[in-house]
Amino acid sequence: MNLPSVARTPTPLVLAARGEPVPVTPVWFMRQAGRSLPEYRALRQGIPMLEACQRPDLVQEITMQPVRRHGVDAAILFSDIVVPLRAAGVDVDIVPGVGPVVADPIRTLEQVHRLGPLHPEQVGFVAAAVAGLVAELGDVPLIGFAGAPFTLASYLIEGGPSKNHERTKAMMYGAPELWHALLDRLADITLVFLRVQAQAGASVLQLFDSWAGALSRADYLTAVAPHSRTVLAGLADLGVPRIHFGVGTGEVLDVMGDVGADVVGVDWRVPLDEAVRRIGPHRAVQGNLDPAVLFAGWDAVEREVRRILAEGRAARGHVFNLGHGVLPDTDPDVLTRIVDLVHDLTAA
Ligand code: CP3
Repeated sequence: MNLPSVARTPTPLVLAARGEPVPVTPVWFMRQAGRSLPEYRALRQGIPMLEACQRPDLVQEITMQPVRRHGVDAAILFSDIVVPLRAAGVDVDIVPGVGPVVADPIRTLEQVHRLGPLHPEQVGFVAAAVAGLVAELGDVPLIGFAGAPFTLASYLIEGGPSKNHERTKAMMYGAPELWHALLDRLADITLVFLRVQAQAGASVLQLFDSWAGALSRADYLTAVAPHSRTVLAGLADLGVPRIHFGVGTGEVLDVMGDVGADVVGVDWRVPLDEAVRRIGPHRAVQGNLDPAVLFAGWDAVEREVRRILAEGRAARGHVFNLGHGVLPDTDPDVLTRIVDLVHDLTAA
């Protein structure tokens, strides 16, 4: 299959991801499409989250909204980490204000054996949305994404969002065979889902391991990293830059790079120059403005943006972003001003 994005002139995002010189530091925001935008809230009226994710017309429009409004250097597909699970037959829904809720949390090997595989045609609606978006976006790159095996496992085992991940860790420590069988399946589903997006034209892929920071380094290395590697290494032949992100992952940033990322996403806890020391010189970084700073007034925002750009110069490539997703009550005008500031301060 042709990869339309490969033929195009590389964009600032792709250049930064590869560590090549950029005309401007690229900037986009995790969760840029969503509740901070009134036009998003209007469009979603009466339409459940997962239904919206399955309608290419809505996915396309919602994905475009922040691109039009903020002039960001990338679009990220409007979807959710549970979309491939639902497509593969898992009874999961997204409950407003709660997050993903799973009807039958995974406890047994029989349940694991019934999970997946994901067939590309089960996510044909995603391929259709990606193809439509790539045509509409022109020179703006589209980021495809998926949840990493650990973060998906956490939702499937806990049955929903969890603060302490106690059932997840109980399985990890108490039933390692079951654990690895489950993460094997999830890695396969995730890899298929990301390949579908790249083959439909996504020019960058991000693997979200949002809850990886809940683990010690030793446990991350043995219980999680091999499965994330299956996913990221399984994408290598596509030639599409891979971003790997988690929250609270300061102790494992190097491992998150080593399992096959071109760009390591950093939350706000570790300054980017220190992150580069931990990750090494061969990968780019993404981040890392604390999303809560956007509530502190423009002077504070500007000070933090300047600090992060300065620290980001230590990196081979820097993709400006928040340290986690846009919070729902964020004033969207602050996001637009950040895009302009990053561009003004870094234009070559
Ligand atoms: O970044 C983007 O703009 C693309 C869209 C996107 C969504 N979810 C849309 C969404 C992305 C990249 C995700 C990923 C996702 N989903 C992650 C990993 C990133 C992270 O934030 O750590 C996780 C852990 C989820 C699971 C999930 N889905 C949660 C915790 C929630 C929030 C629940 C709530 O209502 O507070 C969701 C729902 C969700 N996903 C919304 C959006 C826009 C809100 C639903 C709505 O608007 O009704």
